[in-house]
Amino acid sequence: MHNDQICQNLTRMEQEGANLEKLLATAVELLHNSNPRFHWTGIYELYPDNVLRLGPFIGSPTDHVFIAVGKGICGTAIAQKRNLNIPDVNRVANYLACSSSTRSELVVLIRAGETIFAQIDIDSHEFNAFDPVTVRQVELVAERLAQAYQKQHRPDQPSESRKT
Ligand code: SME
Repeated sequence: MHNDQICQNLTRMEQEGANLEKLLATAVELLHNSNPRFHWTGIYELYPDNVLRLGPFIGSPTDHVFIAVGKGICGTAIAQKRNLNIPDVNRVANYLACSSSTRSELVVLIRAGETIFAQIDIDSHEFNAFDPVTVRQVELVAERLAQAYQKQHRPDQPSESRKT
């Protein structure tokens, strides 16, 4: 499924009343199946205590269910407030290994301006798996999910306190 269709599916589901959890899980599933180079696809949500917590994912189970801001590639993306496309994870000093097969990793923030809600994290067994077209497609899904976060306020994650 092309990423435009993923966004259309998410929009339709939201219009039909799907909650944020359902939208996140569906986005992970559709993204994961959209590209054979995606070997682990998941979402980490940023909580007010500045810790990322693993949400829905597809792939091998990971020990890294909680990641503090600044730690690993995921926490560094939050600390630096930017997406990270890592062509070779073995060249990153504070990389947190999920699988010994992983060679490259992409983190795309789900954000509205300065407010970061979560991130899409994708691992690949191939080096440099994320070309600019692929990155843009994941960014479009992240932008769609950011709209859902803005609409669907959750009391355990007051959006005001997510501001970094
Ligand atoms: N590699 C990530 C940890 C998450 S696992 O890949 C699922 C990192 O360095 O932050």
